[in-house]
Amino acid sequence: MTQATNTVRFVLDGVIVEAQGERRTTTVLDYLREQLHRTGTKEGCAEGDCGACVVLVGELNAAGTGVDYLPVNSCLQLLPTLDGKSVKTVESLRRADGSLHPVQEAMVACHGSQCGFCTPGIVMSLTGLVQTVKAPTRSQVNDALSGNLCRCTGYKPIIDATLKACAAPAAELKIDDQADLALLHEIRRPTEPTYSLDGDIVVQPVVRTRKGNEFVSPATVAEVADYLKKHPGATLLAGSTEIGLQVNKQFSRPDHIVYLGNVAELRQIQDNGGTWRIGAQVSLSAVEALVAKAYPDFAEVLRRFGSPPIRSTATLAGNIANGSPIGDTMPCLLALGATLLLRRGDATRTVSLEKFYTGQKKTVLQPGEFIEAIHLPKPKAGGFFRAHKISKRFDQDISATCCAMHYQLKDGKFSDVRLAYNGLAPSPCRAPALEAVINGRAPDAVSAAQLDQAIAASFTARDGLRATWIYRALVARNLVLQFVEESLPVKEAVQ
Ligand SMILES: Cc1cc2nc3c(=O)[nH]c(=O)nc-3n(C[C@H](O)[C@H](O)[C@H](O)COP(=O)(O)OP(=O)(O)OC[C@H]3O[C@@H](n4cnc5c(N)ncnc54)[C@H](O)[C@@H]3O)c2cc1C
Ligand code: FES
Ligand code: FES
Repeated sequence: MTQATNTVRFVLDGVIVEAQGERRTTTVLDYLREQLHRTGTKEGCAEGDCGACVVLVGELNAAGTGVDYLPVNSCLQLLPTLDGKSVKTVESLRRADGSLHPVQEAMVACHGSQCGFCTPGIVMSLTGLVQTVKAPTRSQVNDALSGNLCRCTGYKPIIDATLKACAAPAAELKIDDQADLALLHEIRRPTEPTYSLDGDIVVQPVVRTRKGNEFVSPATVAEVADYLKKHPGATLLAGSTEIGLQVNKQFSRPDHIVYLGNVAELRQIQDNGGTWRIGAQVSLSAVEALVAKAYPDFAEVLRRFGSPPIRSTATLAGNIANGSPIGDTMPCLLALGATLLLRRGDATRTVSLEKFYTGQKKTVLQPGEFIEAIHLPKPKAGGFFRAHKISKRFDQDISATCCAMHYQLKDGKFSDVRLAYNGLAPSPCRAPALEAVINGRAPDAVSAAQLDQAIAASFTARDGLRATWIYRALVARNLVLQFVEESLPVKEAVQ
């Protein structure tokens, strides 16, 4: 079905909302509050940190028989990304007879709210949790709340409330979306490209201004590639956790925005034998689940990446393309030898992540070229992988440094060491001089002094906002020493 230009259609509590004439960068939060007067959803920080704006965004499940919900920071999500989806706000939880959702009832009963500013976001995060996890543990509740700040109540009553709410029958915990299902089918976005009479791809905009600026939401990789060839300066939008910040804090207004969220091929993970092919629109939550058994340390780095509403939309490709010197996934990917599949038009090339960065936030991507997929090697017999992120706060904080190391132990000595960091150089990178110190040595022969020397020779000492150089260098060395020490006695290889 072709969308009428400049109309974003989404389902809100059994009604199709047609948002017309909105800017391509209007946020979901602003639209909910200012146009729909859903003021239960709050703005605290407008940068994804406080969780006051959390809502649930729903999409038809693969079979089309139900709705899958994700908690998102509505302050970071752009309204046109909602086209074809549904939204649940805290107001949606009120039942027809006026009664509250079990999470809300328990928040009242356990005194989980004082000033109440954070409460709607907390209720939505927890309601999201109980849609998929029927009996969450205390630790799962903690994780679910890691992106919600409360300044006055304290978390104990909130956690108690969640555990109490979970005693309610599953049917009461489930969001009532029966009225939404048929409507979601009605506004479903096209899954095939539109062609002109000449056989050219025509990417239909969701929003288009009189000046010709537009927000497009293609369904296929071919459309993305075609559009980017014709508009090489267009901005790719994946999970919006960086772009949303640029919109809110730097007032960025890209002329052309290409949203990848509706490209089914890019949302897939394929098992290619020795590697996983992770599509560019696969979320960090999905990657966390993928690597949980194979690389538990990588999963732990991801558990501490932002918060659940950030990870539910943020992508691995977005983290790589953004290229922050303190990006968290890159040390793990570098140590594991990940490669990137890049596409421009019909042409593709494979580039190892090591060769991807050419400077601070600079990459080898050519105009019109984009990351189509990441190839992540699966564990090999005899291989070990360690990673750890150091940040000031445990949850929801950016790295001072993150270190990852992949190695083998042969005859009690290290071999094939791949060691990588963020936070020490203009872009995340491997550390060949440190690898040379470790390779060929038994764990107890690796000394702090040798590592210190290699760090001093490899990196330019520079203090940063998040840490001094002295601290970073010390942590960088100590993380390696910890990995080395923990390799004694020899652990079982990852199978
Ligand atoms: C509250 C908060 C907490 C955060 N915590 C962390 C953290 O702990 N660790 C960390 O490393 N980062 C963190 N970030 C940064 C951010 O979440 C990550 O960089 C994230 O992975 C970006 O992915 P995205 O899909 O949201 O990217 P987007 O915002 O959609 O895009 C980011 C950039 O990548 C480009 N891009 C996206 N997809 C592609 C593609 N396929 N090909 C080429 N270019 C592409 C976009 O054009 C844009 O320039 C945090 C951000 C916020 C707001
Ligand atoms: S307003 Fe703070 S996370 Fe959105
Ligand atoms: S109840 Fe006041 S900030 Fe949480």
